[in-house]
Amino acid sequence: MTEASRPPSPRPTERTSFLPFSRPTIGDAEIAEVVECMRSGWITTGPRVERFTSDFAAYVGGRHASAVSSATAGLHLALLAHGIGPGDEVITSPMTFVATLNVIELVGAIPVLADIDRRTLQIRVDEVARRITPRTRAIIPVHFVGQPVDLDPLLDLARAHDLVLIEDAAHAAGTEYKGRRIGSFPTTSVFSFHPNKNITTGEGGMVVTHDDAVLARVALLKFHGMSRDAWKRFDKAGSPRYDVDVPGYKYNMLDMQAALGIHQLPKLDAFIAARRRLAERYQTAFRDLDALILPEPVPYPARHAWHLYTPLLELEALTIDRDAVMAELKARNIGVGLHYTAAHEFSYYRERYRWCPDDFPDAHFVSERIVSLPLYPSLSDADQDDVIAAVRDIAQRSRR
Ligand SMILES: Cc1ncc(COP(=O)(O)O)c(C=O)c1O
Repeated sequence: MTEASRPPSPRPTERTSFLPFSRPTIGDAEIAEVVECMRSGWITTGPRVERFTSDFAAYVGGRHASAVSSATAGLHLALLAHGIGPGDEVITSPMTFVATLNVIELVGAIPVLADIDRRTLQIRVDEVARRITPRTRAIIPVHFVGQPVDLDPLLDLARAHDLVLIEDAAHAAGTEYKGRRIGSFPTTSVFSFHPNKNITTGEGGMVVTHDDAVLARVALLKFHGMSRDAWKRFDKAGSPRYDVDVPGYKYNMLDMQAALGIHQLPKLDAFIAARRRLAERYQTAFRDLDALILPEPVPYPARHAWHLYTPLLELEALTIDRDAVMAELKARNIGVGLHYTAAHEFSYYRERYRWCPDDFPDAHFVSERIVSLPLYPSLSDADQDDVIAAVRDIAQRSRR
């Protein structure tokens, strides 16, 4: 029998149940608070949102915060609140969730991309500097997968060119840069509480800012442009009258969502510690595999929040591509994620800006090779061992 005609040997012991790549860790305290909220008679934006907002601002060391329905909403509002609009150029990373670019488009501004470093996956400051023009108004760096971007030189660039710095901190709750938490820097930063993030409110986001005027504008725009919160209008001391200063959006967080956040936040550091331990187990287990390029730490002091564990496939060492590897993992009942296809490769952006994959070679390299393996605090060592065994087996069988 030739090598090609030999039937494949059976896969090693396969899981009987599907292992998701992500799963929120929701405890009894969160569930009890949601139930209490529902029984309280007030389920939309109210006192629980106010408490979660001030707790979050205190945790990150931010001056002001405003809770919103998602990080996408928060980034949209941050751009509007900073006065970014038609014709303005906004520099960001191609290696991000497409929401970062979409909101730039939605305010009528022009996304300008600066390539990443393929080892750390973070935006390169020299690339950002090279893209600044007289029309540049803002930079949106993305703290990718939980490591911080190199903020100091970006803060210097923003100061030197009078640019707004909006941190896409969707992955960065609990991330630290040079000993300080993301959210504590003199910028506007936007966090996500989507269910696969390090803490969740179901869906939700937080805008943290040092700028009083930005906070006021976000507060106004997130609720119809109305000058008073609903729950302050409806409580005993409130007046039901309100005025509208500007047409706004409906981007408010609900008390039912904040009920989760209030009890998730005190667990964030323990969640990160659990994620770090699991990430280190992966790093040790995969160290000898030439089919994987393992995640690298950034070369400055940082605390990685380990939002995702994202090795790259060494395609040159494999006979199959990334999609086939992901299909193989799924066939073994192992969930995987793809974070992300580089934003400049989506049809809309390709066609609108005539971007080619190789315009941003490192982002393209990563985009073709990245996979997200299961990583969450409740992932058991036994389940993680199944992931490790499956990855090792696929790597071995598909070796070039
Ligand atoms: C880098 C980045 N920015 C923004 C967002 C948008 O967050 P949300 O889902 O809360 O709108 C995400 C979500 O995955 C993200 O990964």
